[in-house]
Amino acid sequence: MQTELSRKLGIEHAVFGFTPFPAVAAAISRAGGFGVLGAVRYTAPDDLKRDLDWLDAHAGGRPYGLDVVMPAKKVEGVTEADVEAMIPEEHRRFVRDTLAAHGVPELVEGEASGWRITGWMEQVARTQLDVAFDYPIRLLANALGSPPADIVERAHDRDILVAALAGSARHARKHQEVGIDIVVAQGYEAGGHTGEIATMVLTPEIVEAVDPLPVLAAGGIGSGPQVAAALTLGAQGVWLGSIWLTTTEADLHSPALTRKLLAAGSGDTVRSRALTGKPARQLRTEWTDAWDGPAGPGTLPMPLQGLLVAEAVSRIQKYEVEPLLGTPVGQIVGRMTAERSVQAVFDDLTRGFEKAVDRVNRIAGRSGRP
Ligand SMILES: Cc1cc2nc3c(=O)[nH]c(=O)nc-3n(C[C@H](O)[C@H](O)[C@H](O)COP(=O)(O)O)c2cc1C
Repeated sequence: MQTELSRKLGIEHAVFGFTPFPAVAAAISRAGGFGVLGAVRYTAPDDLKRDLDWLDAHAGGRPYGLDVVMPAKKVEGVTEADVEAMIPEEHRRFVRDTLAAHGVPELVEGEASGWRITGWMEQVARTQLDVAFDYPIRLLANALGSPPADIVERAHDRDILVAALAGSARHARKHQEVGIDIVVAQGYEAGGHTGEIATMVLTPEIVEAVDPLPVLAAGGIGSGPQVAAALTLGAQGVWLGSIWLTTTEADLHSPALTRKLLAAGSGDTVRSRALTGKPARQLRTEWTDAWDGPAGPGTLPMPLQGLLVAEAVSRIQKYEVEPLLGTPVGQIVGRMTAERSVQAVFDDLTRGFEKAVDRVNRIAGRSGRP
């Protein structure tokens, strides 16, 4: 699974893996892919430093990257308390009532609730970058919107390639204008924040729109034939997020959630604003149904919704309240039917890719691989 881009980066497979877990990122890089660590949850620079130290020591000398979230709409000069004050009482009551209806226990005094608005603020992302630029990262990716020009410049000064996720050709062209090096064309099927265009349609649109920039196809990819399809559509590689969630290296902290992911079919996700206020694909649960149903008060815009549900999500996760328990994940969840090591995922991708290329050649009446 080699392409011009994989050769440029010195990796064996043009498979990029986004993951919030350092152990998964390291395993992806060791397996010959390109591990990219999600930084959004690191609100304390020391935590990020600790995990980058670990990642650097365990990536086997292979390249790896970091993904930050700098929303296009900036949340600046606003504190968490300001945002808290903007949340209507009706919405707070809905959260309380939904949790009470499922008997979800309270957190113990002093326990932090996972999700904080701060991870989505540009100044926090900049603090993360101040830490990350001290490490030999080879790629910096930005999730929501084009990265600021000065960040692109700082990365380029350090010989770091810059990538940005795009859900439309228009977004991809905006990224190109700020001088990024790689566009991740992320389709509707993907886990996490996603647009409305399917990967099959989006990838060639973006490839054409930003030519000659290399494009990675993302969303709904989890098998070798799908990697082959992505390259056929003009992508220089693939960017996978969901598939790693059920690897043995992932640390979901919830056996019940792993069981739910392994049991879910490709139709068991929903694109809902319930988690952050922006449409994000996730497991469909009674929690997303409550928010998206007619009895709900409607979701709030980002970052209010994320802050409103932060503690509730932590409580649901901690006590593994199964009907409400979910996570961002894409439609590829239907193929995630057994826990496997990251290496086993790569073995499966490679085998499937080779078979797919052989099959296409056979069908087309050609012999041998290109
Ligand atoms: C649990 C989870 C969390 C994610 N968080 C982020 C994030 O913080 N930043 C980002 O750029 N993309 C994030 N994504 C999206 C991935 O980077 C990737 O584009 C997507 O997972 C690809 O589609 P797939 O889920 O079908 O593999 C997340 C995806 C998942 C499944």
